[in-house]
Amino acid sequence: MKKVMLEARELTKYFDVPGGKLHAVDKVNFQIHEGETLGLVGESGCGKSTTGRLLLRLLEPTSGDVIFDGVNITKLSQREFRKYRTQMQIVFQDPYASLNPRMSVAEIIEEPLLINKIYNNAADRAKRVKELMDTVGLAPRLLNVYPHELDGGRRQRIGIARALALKPRFIVQDEPVSALDVSIQAQILNLMDDLQDEFQLTYMFISHDLSVVKHVSDRIIVMYLGVIVEMAESQELFERRLHPYTKALLSALPVPSVDIETEPIILKGEITSPINPKNACRFAGRCAYRQDLCDQQQPELRELHPGHWVACHFAENLVQTEDIVVGGSLSHPDSTVTKPSQVIEEEPVTEVEQAKSEESNISK
Ligand SMILES: Nc1ncnc2c1ncn2[C@@H]1O[C@H](COP(=O)(O)OP(=O)(O)OP(=O)(O)O)[C@@H](O)[C@H]1O
Ligand code: SF4
Ligand SMILES: [Mg+2]
Repeated sequence: MKKVMLEARELTKYFDVPGGKLHAVDKVNFQIHEGETLGLVGESGCGKSTTGRLLLRLLEPTSGDVIFDGVNITKLSQREFRKYRTQMQIVFQDPYASLNPRMSVAEIIEEPLLINKIYNNAADRAKRVKELMDTVGLAPRLLNVYPHELDGGRRQRIGIARALALKPRFIVQDEPVSALDVSIQAQILNLMDDLQDEFQLTYMFISHDLSVVKHVSDRIIVMYLGVIVEMAESQELFERRLHPYTKALLSALPVPSVDIETEPIILKGEITSPINPKNACRFAGRCAYRQDLCDQQQPELRELHPGHWVACHFAENLVQTEDIVVGGSLSHPDSTVTKPSQVIEEEPVTEVEQAKSEESNISK
């Protein structure tokens, strides 16, 4: 049994917004094991970044706890938390926005060493900066250049070097390759993979792109409007998706075999507001399997198979309704649409057909 490094218990973040409380993250529970990569996937605005930031205490939770190495870090004072802060770092999506444009590469990487007073003298810091640049594949000649002089891949390498500076054990990667060209994405993902082996790192990998999450994760959490709807080992999730939303998400992935007849699951219907949501399934407005109970009670996350958790009242009954489908990648809720492939809908009437029908009515 792998050791639990980090645990979220009933972790919750509500934001005060006009109209009430926006439930960005709502009582989520999960564990992260030492040395694993836990993927966190879901549409834009479902609460992925907020969850990552709560784990690192970059945001204070509304309620709930984060346990790191058996210590409840949410309850620590800022001073007590400092020694944990160095062990937990983050790599951001947009390396350009997260790097100070007025600082050179060397200064950016050196900054956390300075702030945390890791070395007493400049020579030791400079040595460590060069070592970190070497670790992430940045040439020494780039020491004194500025972020705007570099391409996206190199800028992300700076972000990674900075995250590694304090020798962390846990890193949240928040969409680390989403802003990069496809050709560069693989290089950065491979680098993160090598670093994980070399430094025994534990990762939370956040992305809206399920194909990337699948590639890098040992286990995957699927989030929808602030709650976890499914959680399982990566392979298990792909072989036995249980939640209707996960089925729709997976339908957006290309299927390798050309022999398989595929059809994308199109999500349709109303997206529940994250502001003051009622006690109901948050996916109900878009779910083709919805029943009365779904509108009356929020389903709990329950373990349907060993290590495989799902939050759907009727997940047992849906197991057999597998859909093999194709499509693009996941983006904003408005752009992905949904229906289980077995649901037959009326064909939409085009404007031309409508006009023809009106013409024939007139001529009758
Ligand atoms: N500071 C804030 N004030 C108010 N609402 C916020 C704040 N930060 C986030 N939110 C809201 O909380 C919800 C979750 O946001 P979050 O950034 O965690 O989503 P996400 O899954 O990371 O999305 P994306 O894929 O676009 O990065 C969204 O509805 C967002 O608008
Ligand atoms: S609980 Fe109901 S609405 Fe929610 S996913 Fe399951 S069947 Fe669909
Ligand atoms: Mg985000």
